[in-house]
Amino acid sequence: MATPRIDLFAHPHQEQRLALFELSKAFCLQATAESQDLEYLVDKLQDTINVIKEHSDNENMFISPLLNAKGLQNENWLDKEHKHMDELLDELESLIIKIRTLHVDQQIDFCSKIYNTLNRFIGNYLLHIDKEEQQIMPLLRQHSTMEEIMGILVAFKAYKEPEVAKAMLPSILSNMTVEERVKMFASIKKHAPAAAYQASLSFTIAG
Ligand SMILES: [Fe+2]
Ligand SMILES: [Fe+2]
Repeated sequence: MATPRIDLFAHPHQEQRLALFELSKAFCLQATAESQDLEYLVDKLQDTINVIKEHSDNENMFISPLLNAKGLQNENWLDKEHKHMDELLDELESLIIKIRTLHVDQQIDFCSKIYNTLNRFIGNYLLHIDKEEQQIMPLLRQHSTMEEIMGILVAFKAYKEPEVAKAMLPSILSNMTVEERVKMFASIKKHAPAAAYQASLSFTIAG
């Protein structure tokens, strides 16, 4: 198979960095009363928090098991990092709940509190995603087979993004030999949740 260079982290991280920097700028402007539509901004922050929390859950579910199987992380390092990130996000969510209760005159002042807390999170999160990109992904490439890494991608897409999977997986699978497919599905069965394995199988049959 002509192996595509799979990067499990780069694309979602790029989108998250962009969203976080835009939010940071917007809350900075809010804090100096140079911008409007706070409700929209607060909703957008909540959406971004939801996306990041789900992203962490996905990494725990689909990437951590392979890291553990290969002995590539001590004491569930990735899961612990995510727990810490979730705690920081919980703090931001409590500020979101609070600001929604405030009178409009008090909201502007409160924006600087959100701005500071958001930037504390961004500082921590940038280091976290950098570690995933610069340390975890190279370790996975070094110690895993192409079929194992492809298995993470296929299981994740089939289970969490079936519409995307429908468009993308048939061509990926058709470029794999029977032996490569067998190895990949064996890895999915071993390392991914049972429901994700079942969802992946439907694409084998379709592919
Ligand atoms: Fe992560
Ligand atoms: Fe990540």
